[in-house]
This record gives sequence, structure tokens and C-alpha cells, in this order.
Amino acid sequence: MKKVKSIISVMAVLGSITIAVTSCSKHDANSPGVEYMPDMYRSPSLETNSFSVIKNSDGSFDTIQTNRIPVAGTIARGYLPFPYANTAEGLEQAKLNAHNPLERNEMNTKQGEELYGKYCVHCHGATGQGDGLVGQKLAGAPPPYTQADKINMTEGELFYIIAYGRGYMGPHASLLTQEERWKLVLYVQHLQHPDGMPAPAADSSATKEVKVKEKKSKTKGTK
Ligand code: HEC
Repeated sequence: MKKVKSIISVMAVLGSITIAVTSCSKHDANSPGVEYMPDMYRSPSLETNSFSVIKNSDGSFDTIQTNRIPVAGTIARGYLPFPYANTAEGLEQAKLNAHNPLERNEMNTKQGEELYGKYCVHCHGATGQGDGLVGQKLAGAPPPYTQADKINMTEGELFYIIAYGRGYMGPHASLLTQEERWKLVLYVQHLQHPDGMPAPAADSSATKEVKVKEKKSKTKGTK
């Protein structure tokens, strides 16, 4: 019993010393005092849209991303999934099967031109010759859209390149909606064929007729 009593009194003395020490530090106006749970007072300040590097207790490093990656299969509102994968096979499929749902008209092409001025002109240049101020500085400048092996790219391939990027060109899928990308396709084709799209090789008689009609309506419009 005596032993217990003496233990209690030793604890009491230690306790009062602790209180004395902690209360002393409170006299320092700049001291934050004892922080029992510093994490609660000082939450880690993470910036939005940033990556931070943290050092683990074993000395290794980890990167933490403030924005969490969405659950697989998440579709952002207003964004349609593009069913062609970023693979050689996906490209072949897109070349053949991805078709522009937008009408090739002046309004859509004009809106494509506006987007081109914001997202593409600095690399590809105003006329698509690959002579934009940034494009010229790249180790591999973008080839002209009118280069022999580029001029006949299908609309599906153009769309695919805008979505996934190519070489030094980054993917633009997260920057542009599908509609905006299709408008850009119209404008890139306009730069490739300023005098109008060539008639597709197959079924030329039908397309010729359409072309004649288009020309007529154009002249009507300018009158
Ligand atoms: C950072 C500069 C850069 C930007 C911005 C950029 N591109 Fe590109 N683009 C390139 C480069 C470089 C290539 C050539 C890639 C290769 O073949 O290695 C290329 C290739 C292409 C091609 C394939 C045809 C060709 O000329 O090689 C198309 C089509 C294209 N870009 C369209 C666009 C469109 C549309 C935009 C705007 C949404 C855009 N690019 C934005 C640099 C850029």
C-alpha cells in the first residue's frame, strides 16, 4: 500500500512539473504551445491540380496527386466516349469507321477556325504548313497538312490524332469536346483543300452532281 502511495505521489510531482513546463511556454507570445495533434492544426496544404512529392519513413519517395483519378468507366458530363483505343488497331478502325457527324458548312468550319487559332496555330501555323512560332522550335516541326502522305488522311484519322496526339503533339481529348474536335477536323480539311473537298474516289457520278449543286448555291449566296 505504501508503495502504491509513493508511486502516486511521484506521478503527481511529474504531472505538476509537466503542467509547469507547458504553462511556462505559454508566456512566450510566439509559441504555439503544445500541439497534441499537429495534423489537426496544420493540415497538409495541397494545391488543386498538383502533384506533390512526399518522403516516406523508409526514405523512399511517393508522388501524390490532389485530383483523384475517376473510377474506371466514368464518363464526364457532356463528353462522349470515343470507341477507338489508342493503339495501332484503334487507329486503323478510326480511319475507316469514325465519321464526322457535323455538316460541312460555313458556320462549323468557321468555329473550327476559331478553335484552331486557340489550340493549334502556334505549332501548325495559320495555313497549316507547320510553321507556327512554337512548331518551328520543336526538334521535329509538324509536317504541312498538305504533304503528299497527309493530304488524304481520312476524317477519322484526323479526329484520332487530335484526340490522342502524335509525336510532339499532346493529346487534346481532355481539352476539347468531341464536337469541337470534329469542327477542327473540318477546318484542317479546309486548310488541306481550300478550293473544296475532292470527290471521293468511289461513286464519282453522284458526288459530281452534288459538287455542281454546291457551286450553284455558293454563287447564289454571294449575290
Ligand atoms: C505542341 C505543338 C502542337 C500542337 C499544339 C498541335 N500539334 Fe498537331 N502536330 C504537331 C507535331 C509535331 C506533329 C507531327 C507528329 C509526328 O508525325 O511525329 C503534329 C501532327 C498533326 C497532324 C497529323 C498531320 C501532320 O501534319 O503531321 C494533325 C492532323 C494535327 N497535328 C492536327 C492538330 C490540331 C487540329 C491541333 C489543335 C487542336 C494540333 N495539331 C495541335 C504539333 C502540335
